[in-house]
Amino acid sequence: MKIVFATANPHKIQEVRDICGDCGIEFVLPAKGFNPVENGDTFEANSLIKAKEAYRVSKTYSLADDSGLCVNALNGAPGLYSARYAGTQDEKIAKLLYELKDKHDRSAKFVCCMTLLDENGKMIYQTTGECKGSIVKNRKGINGFGYDPIFMVDGFSKTMAELSSDEKNQISHRAVALKNVLKFLQSMS
Ligand code: IMP
Repeated sequence: MKIVFATANPHKIQEVRDICGDCGIEFVLPAKGFNPVENGDTFEANSLIKAKEAYRVSKTYSLADDSGLCVNALNGAPGLYSARYAGTQDEKIAKLLYELKDKHDRSAKFVCCMTLLDENGKMIYQTTGECKGSIVKNRKGINGFGYDPIFMVDGFSKTMAELSSDEKNQISHRAVALKNVLKFLQSMS
């Protein structure tokens, strides 16, 4: 089975392919012209917008991921705006560390909402995965992407960027959501 994965982020599709392993699904990028306008006010709404846009250009099963980092002491920010929190990724991390400099509570979670549309463009499944942790004071590790170097995963004494891709793909918000999607697809067949 082939499923379009609604992203322009090469890290995300690589993780999805690695989590899927030999699950029998080939994840491919959307056809040309994929340009979602992420103006929803929840992860669920933006995930649906991206899935619909992937379906519009590809006209087949489409799966979207909308994800972000929610920090408790910042009332859930950067959250939905994780990708747009500042200019470069380095600047986004610097801004977050600055905002947290006087905060005692550094707890946070990664959230990933996935939405699956069928071959007619109808939403057939939506699920949200979370991964809890806390924000460290200094960047550590070189693996992964985004905010991984400052996110210490609960139960590990390593940041997400110090985990191997295999380790991240066991416990990440994306892994939790994708495993639910794969279970749903199995239950359909
Ligand atoms: P989206 O493409 O609108 O879903 O934006 C997600 C943003 O959240 C990314 O650009 C990253 O900044 C951040 N993010 C989501 N998932 C991860 C992850 O697994 N690791 C680190 N950052 C992530």
